[in-house]
Amino acid sequence: MPAVETIPPSDYSLVGKDTARAIEQGLAEATWYASPVPKEKMRELLQRRDGPAIRDTLIWFGLLLISGAGSYLFWQAGSWWAVVPFMIYGVLYASASDSRWHETSHGTAFKTDWLNNALYEIASFMVVREATVWRWSHARHHSDTIIVGRDPEIAAPRPPDIAGIIWGFFGIKELFNFFKPVALHCTGRLSPEEKTFIPESEYEKVFLRARIYLVIYGGVMGLAICQRSILPLLFVGLPRIYGAWLGLIYGYTQHAGLAENVLDHRLNCRTVRMNFINRYLYWNMNYHLEHHMFPLVPYHNLPKLHELVKADMPAPYRSIWNAWREIVPALLRQVKDPAYYVERKLPPPTVRADAPAAAHIFTAKGQPVNGWIEICAGEFLKREDVIRFDHGQKTYAIYRSAEGALHATDGICTHGNTHLADGLVKGRLIECPKHNGRFDLTDGSPQRKPVCVALQTYKAREHDGKIFLDLAPPT
Ligand code: FES
Repeated sequence: MPAVETIPPSDYSLVGKDTARAIEQGLAEATWYASPVPKEKMRELLQRRDGPAIRDTLIWFGLLLISGAGSYLFWQAGSWWAVVPFMIYGVLYASASDSRWHETSHGTAFKTDWLNNALYEIASFMVVREATVWRWSHARHHSDTIIVGRDPEIAAPRPPDIAGIIWGFFGIKELFNFFKPVALHCTGRLSPEEKTFIPESEYEKVFLRARIYLVIYGGVMGLAICQRSILPLLFVGLPRIYGAWLGLIYGYTQHAGLAENVLDHRLNCRTVRMNFINRYLYWNMNYHLEHHMFPLVPYHNLPKLHELVKADMPAPYRSIWNAWREIVPALLRQVKDPAYYVERKLPPPTVRADAPAAAHIFTAKGQPVNGWIEICAGEFLKREDVIRFDHGQKTYAIYRSAEGALHATDGICTHGNTHLADGLVKGRLIECPKHNGRFDLTDGSPQRKPVCVALQTYKAREHDGKIFLDLAPPT
């Protein structure tokens, strides 16, 4: 009998054999496919606003308050009708918080940073995730989406644990899985896997938050014991068990059953049409493919982005039901055949007349004179804009700030392999398009995590209507 070749199971840990393999094969921190979008249109989509997220957050808190008050009143009256407001409260608490956590982790929900950070901490607590750990794990998820051995957020590893997925809708194991690392972090330690994506400078923040979580949950449990009632826990903590199910129904549509180890989000992310209630609860994360391809675009602009790029995307799923009709059979098949995945049909390559692929990429026009090299006419670089300049083996980014001043830096982000010329200039800051890290243009200093290392800066000047760059970095 011929020998049957058995494929060894994938190793989803972040310190195993598949981690080394992903790095060897160039799948880690790789360059991903991006659909062509006219630069002007992209600039419009990238604009931040406070209004939509303030409105949506006030409605969310208002609904939490009303459903919470209803739950309390019915409970005190000893009525079983308390189940109804509690179910609403639980979904708002544990499911809707997931997308609030997500969008604020990118720093794109609000224009004002402290609003993003404040809501991020609140939503992390509600969705029962350690804020600092998950901020960094999510950055890795965006760098290496569904790359085995690199992505810490693969929801349905192969072969899928079907019983685990079903039980996941009741969140008991997830709640337990929250406290296990919290206990570790309280003692001032991290797991080897966490150390692969959290920089050392962030360790103290992890430990501090773990201790705060423990104090809060300890206080709520103490209150429940004093009152001899489960009620305090039904409001804080237990919603993760009875209210997270809707978040999982949304969440599995993102990647479950799709390809692993590919560098094109069109092959490993889904966009699913949803009604306005689901889109409100999920903060438009049903446009998940668009979000992964252009994570800098705020949630409220994702429908517009979808319209711009849909010709270059696989057809969106018609509904949540339609997506799950693909997910369930795919997961069941992967139990027996872990190599199986849903293959998506890509449309033929799109060439947009209004989106010349390299509209903002320039190369040298001549030889440097005294170290200065001509880049382009000044009119190509508007205020709060950036262009890319490739010279030899190097890439530079040249910016014009809001005040009109010219700045220049290395063109690749110090956090990952991403061109800053695809990012957003705000005032005197450049925001990286991959994980929304920010640098000060004047000195290259990091201004927002996950970037920790400064950019090399260069001198740039305008003369006779042309922009010039001094290739020698200032000493
Ligand atoms: S690549 Fe991560 S912030 Fe730039």
